[in-house]
Amino acid sequence: MASNLTVVVLAAGGGTRMKSKTMKVLHPVGGRSMVGHVLTAVQQMEPSRIVAVVGTQREQVGPHIHELVPDAVLAVQETQDGTGHAVKVALEALGGKVDGTVVVVTGDTPLLRGESLRAFAEEHDAAQRAVSILSGRVANPFGYGRVVRNTEGDVEGIVEEKDATPEQREIDEINSGILAFDGAFLVDALDRVGNDNAKGEYYLTDTVGIARADGLTVGAFPVDDVMQTEGANDRAQLAALGREMNRRIVDRWMRDGVTVMDPETTWIESDVVLAPDVTILPGTQLLGATVVAEDAVVGPDTTLKDCEIGSGARVVRTHAELAVIGENATVGPFAYLRPGARLGAGGKIGTFVEVKNSHIGDGAKVPHLSYVGDAEVGEGANIGAGTTFANYDGVAKHRTVVGRYAKTSCNNTFVAPVTIGDGATTGAGAVIRRDVPPGSLAVSGGPQRNLEGWVLSRRAGTKQAEAAEQALPGATDGAPSDSTSG
Ligand code: UD1
Ligand code: CA
Repeated sequence: MASNLTVVVLAAGGGTRMKSKTMKVLHPVGGRSMVGHVLTAVQQMEPSRIVAVVGTQREQVGPHIHELVPDAVLAVQETQDGTGHAVKVALEALGGKVDGTVVVVTGDTPLLRGESLRAFAEEHDAAQRAVSILSGRVANPFGYGRVVRNTEGDVEGIVEEKDATPEQREIDEINSGILAFDGAFLVDALDRVGNDNAKGEYYLTDTVGIARADGLTVGAFPVDDVMQTEGANDRAQLAALGREMNRRIVDRWMRDGVTVMDPETTWIESDVVLAPDVTILPGTQLLGATVVAEDAVVGPDTTLKDCEIGSGARVVRTHAELAVIGENATVGPFAYLRPGARLGAGGKIGTFVEVKNSHIGDGAKVPHLSYVGDAEVGEGANIGAGTTFANYDGVAKHRTVVGRYAKTSCNNTFVAPVTIGDGATTGAGAVIRRDVPPGSLAVSGGPQRNLEGWVLSRRAGTKQAEAAEQALPGATDGAPSDSTSG
């Protein structure tokens, strides 16, 4: 917007009904704080300045707002004496006077859209009103301020629930809490607002009646989509707004060419980016800054937080955080990818495999029952079932390197730091403590030894010994003998 616009964000209230140590406006909806959503919408108006009013738990709220909008002005309202008082505190933080238009929004309306605010402010400016109200018609207006109109339909004022007559309580046009003002009028009117009302508070909404008494123009601009202006006061409303936000996000991605088999059980947060022809199967949560490239199929029952999924990749029943999956790679079912897991193009991380801070190269495979930590697995390598990368010696973490096209066998332990060379191989059950040169076979553990009678002598009297005895008629006691074979 070209004109001189100031936006005041009210975020000083405690939100006691949340029953939380976290301040209300900081509760997340769709992966972003409620006030974060409001600030995103506000920034789309390109205001000249943003003032946020903080009070209760300002040591939590202030830094959060500054992180999102570094040049926002923070105004501290020491006691919550009402919305009129809060806006007065905001204007005092600007030196007590303000030119141009002032738009006041509340910090707990996560569904609010920038384009709605913009249209509202433009309409207000075009009509040159002293005050404009973003209003809405709702089925249950209980608790809201009602927009009172005269017989001509002109707005007379706003009356709060607790101060309303029974007739006024029947009015279904409500004040969303979002108002636009002529700045000079607002500064003057706030000095004239009193607190002689049911709550003993200074109501911002009283400025509407003041404008009318002064013969100035006021108006209400009803928003079609009232949920945009709904706030969350308790956890049930938080969940309802969260579900509605998710419905809107999922809907938008479907319209942009993403297949979502079950929108009801698919959760996509605000900052996620999906390409056309991505398919999402039921029970999937895409969180944080996750990005999924085209033709990838994710799910069912998968949670990806801050992950990057390449085109054509397949991720099944997986939990992953800060992981990067290459194109046409496959993951799961039942994989756990921790931060720093990177899988190359066409690679595979299979069933019951945990990977942390490791790069698994293009076409490399870790198909079954393994833990890969702090490793570099070369292109085309294959890790046998049940392999543990023993990265931790109890004090420090160490790295393992497995070379290109190496093939390691089942049930290996790689005791880091250790390197298995390109094209090397290992025997079943090997414990690899020393580097394996390229192209070698490494075996460990020596020939199998059978200590006969060991159980009978060392576990005498147990069911195990009894079973052995029954299978070995004539077995005698005495020292176990060693019948080592092959
Ligand atoms: C307010 C409006 C009401 C409207 C409703 C919409 C007034 C008097 N009433 O009522 O017409 O229908 O919002 O939800 O404005 N706040 C402060 N400092 C204060 C008091 C409030 O920062 O001293 C903030 C709150 O944190 C909140 C917002 O202002 O974000 C609204 O305050 P709240 O107490 O919820 O007002 P309501 O009674 O809901
Ligand atoms: Ca409220």
